[in-house]
Amino acid sequence: MADLSITRLLVEPVLARAKTDYSVWLNADDHIMSADELVARSFESDALMICHSEILSRDVVARLSDRLQIVANYSVGVDHCDLSALKERGIVVTNTPDVLSDATAEIAMLLLLGASRRAYEGDQMLRLGTWKHWAPVEMNGIQVTSKRLGIVGMGRVGQTVAKRARGFEMEIHYTNRNRLPPELEQGAVFHPTVQSLFETVDMISLNCPATPETENLVNAQSIGWMRPGVVFVNTARGRLVDESALIEALNSGHIAAAGLDVFQTEPGGNPAFAACPNVLMLPHLGSSTRETRKAMGDRALDNLDAFFAGREPRDRLV
Ligand code: DGY
Repeated sequence: MADLSITRLLVEPVLARAKTDYSVWLNADDHIMSADELVARSFESDALMICHSEILSRDVVARLSDRLQIVANYSVGVDHCDLSALKERGIVVTNTPDVLSDATAEIAMLLLLGASRRAYEGDQMLRLGTWKHWAPVEMNGIQVTSKRLGIVGMGRVGQTVAKRARGFEMEIHYTNRNRLPPELEQGAVFHPTVQSLFETVDMISLNCPATPETENLVNAQSIGWMRPGVVFVNTARGRLVDESALIEALNSGHIAAAGLDVFQTEPGGNPAFAACPNVLMLPHLGSSTRETRKAMGDRALDNLDAFFAGREPRDRLV
């Protein structure tokens, strides 16, 4: 039986399956593991199953044991892993695509609707007892139906967001490294640049991976390209956004409202957003449904099973 270290507590059916097929070490108190702890585990493990909270930077990868053969990520995003360093060490890396697209798209829609319709402010009025009367001119939000939605990153999650948004009769625009074929585009309008997309749409959803090319994609300059009164949603990664520039735009009203599930600093987020009533925030809940968290575990274990059976893991990245 291969030795597998699982660095975070996972839902019970996933742990039960893992324990049937592997000799499992579990980070039972579920703390975020430090670089030293990850390195130490690698000396006891043939495989690691990690989340995006565990950082395998080049420095950490250089210290990993030769024993470690595979890192099976329990995530679709792999910006916490230095893939080229892992490749150089001959360590196989997998992720969990597809299975979290529906859950993440649900959160994108929740944030889009909630930010547009002032859900945070409304909820606060009831909790604080400040709702004194119904008034035609109070708490007027922005209608989502029939607006132009700009999706940055039209991969699996972006396409699922588009599908859900079409239910609100939204007109879909997108930018992506490559234009999609017509059967996947489904009538969405392709923009070759972020600038062209931002200049065109009423609402924006970030759904692209964090890479050196996309880091701080939303910054003072690109916010300037956005139409005044735009609604902005990020369910991808915090590092795509210059948060100070976003706060400035929220305060000036250039960005009317934002829905954020991800932050530059996680856990914790950015306390400065708490002063902005036009921001609806969640603590990185994109994939957090019981169904999806089980499916992610099954996908990661399928990858491990294939690897240890001498087959190519379905979601091998390097
Ligand atoms: C992912 O899978 O990338 C989600 O953000 C959760 O880690």
